[in-house]
Amino acid sequence: MAQEDVFKKIVSHCKEYGFVFPSSEIYDGLAAVYDYGQNGIELKNNIKQYWWKSMVLMHENIVGIDSAVFMHPTIWKASGHVDAFNDPLIDNRDSKKRYRADVLIEDQIGKYEDKIAKEVAKAAKKFGDSFDEQKFCETNPRVLENKKKRDALQERYAEAMGAMDLEGLKQIIIDEGIVCPISGTKNWTDVRQFNLMFSTEMGASADSSMKVYLRPETAQGIFVNYLNVQKTGRMKIPFGIAQIGKAFRNEIVARQFIFRMREFEQMEMQFFVKPGTELEWFPRWRETRMKWHQALGFGAENYRFHDHEKLAHYANAATDIEFRMPFGFKEVEGIHSRTDFDLSQHEKFSGKQIKYFDPATNESYVPYVIETSIGVDRMFLSIMCHAYTEEQLENGESRVVLKLPAALAPIKLAVLPLVKKDGLPEKAREIIDALKFHFNCTYDEKDTIGKRYRRQDAIGTPYCITVDYDTLKDNCVTLRNRDTMEQERVSIDCLNSLIEDKVSIASLLKKLQ
Ligand code: GAP
Repeated sequence: MAQEDVFKKIVSHCKEYGFVFPSSEIYDGLAAVYDYGQNGIELKNNIKQYWWKSMVLMHENIVGIDSAVFMHPTIWKASGHVDAFNDPLIDNRDSKKRYRADVLIEDQIGKYEDKIAKEVAKAAKKFGDSFDEQKFCETNPRVLENKKKRDALQERYAEAMGAMDLEGLKQIIIDEGIVCPISGTKNWTDVRQFNLMFSTEMGASADSSMKVYLRPETAQGIFVNYLNVQKTGRMKIPFGIAQIGKAFRNEIVARQFIFRMREFEQMEMQFFVKPGTELEWFPRWRETRMKWHQALGFGAENYRFHDHEKLAHYANAATDIEFRMPFGFKEVEGIHSRTDFDLSQHEKFSGKQIKYFDPATNESYVPYVIETSIGVDRMFLSIMCHAYTEEQLENGESRVVLKLPAALAPIKLAVLPLVKKDGLPEKAREIIDALKFHFNCTYDEKDTIGKRYRRQDAIGTPYCITVDYDTLKDNCVTLRNRDTMEQERVSIDCLNSLIEDKVSIASLLKKLQ
C-alpha cells in the first residue's frame, strides 16, 4: 500500500477510536487545530510522563517549572521573535491561495529526490540480486542529471534563506517553473515576510490595553525564570530547567495532520552550563535524547540525526532527531547549543543582571545553554505511525492492531466476562476494583469475545483477561497478549505482578540507565 494511503488510514483511525478529533468539528473544523479524545489524552499524558520523569526524576540537577502562556511583550522583542520569527509567504493571484515560499521550494527539491528514488526502484526491480545501487547512482545519466538539479537548487535555496533574500526566493520559484497546485498557474505575487506569533489585547479599556503574544515556544518562560529557580532551588551549574506546555504559531502551511499545528505542546529543557563547556555537553544531550527515543523499541533504523550545517547566529551547534514517518524522515526534536544569547538579551532588555556566581572560582558569568525541544504532538504522531499495523491472521481474518509500547498505551488491561450473567460480570468488576489503583483498566461485556479483543487491539491495549465459569471455581482467568495473541491461564492473585512491571513508565525509564 502506498505510504500516502497508510497515512490516511492512520488519520481516520485516530478519529474513529477516540485519539484525535478535528477541532470544532460540528462547525466544520478549524484549520490546523485538533482535540485529543478519550484515548488520545491518555497516550499524550503517558508520553509527557515518560519525558518529565526521564528529565526531572532521573537527573538530580534538573527541576521543572510551569510558566504562563502570556508574558511581558518585551520578552519577544528580546528573544528576536518580534523581528525575526517570520515565514516567507507568496500568493497565487489566480487561486488566491497563500503558500510558504520555502515549502514550495522544498517540495520541488523533494520532486527531484522522488525522481531519483523511482529510477533506483525501477533498476532494482530489473536487475534483482545483482543490483549495485551505489554504482547505478554514480553512473546512470538520469539519476546524475536529477542529482545535479537538486544540488544546484539546494545551494541556491540555502543561500537565499540564509540571507532572507525574498526576491531571490521568488526568482527560484519562477526559474524552477513551480506552479500553484490549485490553479496550475505561475501567476505569483512577490514574497513577503509574515510573523508567526498570535497576538491579543490584555486589559479592559482601549487606552490601557497592551498587545501581548501567545508564546510561540515555552523556552522563554524558562529563561526569564532562570534566576528565580537558581536562587530558590540553590542550583549549581551545570543544571537544567524543564517545562511542558502549550505553544502557538500562526502556521501558514498547516499539513500532515498533527505534524504542524497552530496550537501545540512542547517539552523543553534548558541546561545551563559554564561558558566554554557547552560543546562537551552538546554531544552528551544529543546521545541522551536519542536513547530516550530508541528505548521505545521502534528500531534504530527509523531515526536519524540531521546536523545543521548553517547555524542560527546565536547557536554554535544544532541537530534534529528525525523519525521515519509515512511521509519521510521528519524532525521530532531539536537539540541546540544556544550560547548565552537568550540570557544576555534578557539582561539587556530588562536591565537586570542575570549572572551566575561560581563560589569555587569566584567568577560571575552568564551561563551558556544547551536546549532540548520536542513537540508532544509530533511525538504522538510518530508513535501512532509506527504502532498502526494491519495483520493478516492464519485463520484468514485480518485485524488492525496498535502496537503501542505497553507503558504508553491508554488502557493497560481489558477485563471481559465471557457472558453477562451468572456472576461473571460481578467477578470481572471485582478484579478491576483491585487493579484500578495500579493501572488503567476497562470493562467490556458487549459482543463476542473475538470482537471485544479486536476493539482492544485497535486502541493498543496490551492485555485482555477473560473471566469464565471456571474462574468462579479456580480463581484463574485467561490472559491474552495483544501482539502474540497467545493466551495463558493465570491466577487472579498474580495479575498485578505479571502486568504492572511491563506497563509502568518505570519499565521504560530503566532502559535509560
Ligand atoms: N525553543 C526551540 C523551538 O521552539 P522549534 O524547532 O521551533 O524549536 C521545537 O520547535 C519542536 O516543537 C519541533 O521539533 C517540533 O517537534 C515542535 N513543533 C514546532 N512547531 C510545531 C507545530 N507547528 N506543530 C507541532 N509541533 C511543532
